[in-house]
Amino acid sequence: MEDKPFSQACENNKPYILAALKKAFAKTKSVLEVGSGTGQHAVFFAPNLPHLHWQCSDQKEYHAGINQWLDEYPCENLHRPLALKLDHDEWLKTSPSTGEQFDGVYTANTAHIMLENEIKALMHSVDYHLPKNGVFCQYGPFKVNGKFTSESNQAFHEQLIANGRGGYRDIDELAAWAPKLTLIERIDMPANNMMLVWQS
Ligand SMILES: C[S@@+](CC[C@H](N)C(=O)[O-])C[C@H]1O[C@@H](n2cnc3c(N)ncnc32)[C@H](O)[C@@H]1O
Repeated sequence: MEDKPFSQACENNKPYILAALKKAFAKTKSVLEVGSGTGQHAVFFAPNLPHLHWQCSDQKEYHAGINQWLDEYPCENLHRPLALKLDHDEWLKTSPSTGEQFDGVYTANTAHIMLENEIKALMHSVDYHLPKNGVFCQYGPFKVNGKFTSESNQAFHEQLIANGRGGYRDIDELAAWAPKLTLIERIDMPANNMMLVWQS
């Protein structure tokens, strides 16, 4: 059997992210994760947030790796990945596990990877589909007031652009693409990352 995909960054950031999610998703029933990546976040968060359902999603080519993690760490409230590529697939409106609308969305380290049409589609979709009082937790590195928060972030942004990715987004730019969402909290996290907590 092939080795599971592995991200050291996920191992480092997961306890800090979990602490933020416990508070932000305290009343949430059903979370859609956009861009589950390796699946490491999902297998750690689901058992630590037992009051909610955690639905993985990503582009299809990531599913085999995510499923390897879910096979090793199964959990009743953790659900196999659905296909979702922003600006390509239809938004996942209802949770197959609960039959209801997702009242939470989580995404980590996707805003700077996505192209502009993709991140715009993500912000628009969450803005449009999240029900009233729904919560969107968005983790990653962002620009603040047009500025990078560290030199290493600026260097990584330039590398992303050179590789044809979208690069870092300013928080105000994200907010403008999701006019019905309110940024209720911006939490500084280790390694010059942030957790943005949006509410519909
Ligand atoms: C840097 S990885 C982050 C993965 C994981 N969330 C983490 O924090 O380790 C970026 C993720 O964004 C996903 N992604 C990129 N473009 C996407 C799109 N247009 N729609 C959905 N997911 C996308 C990738 O498939 C990948 O899982």
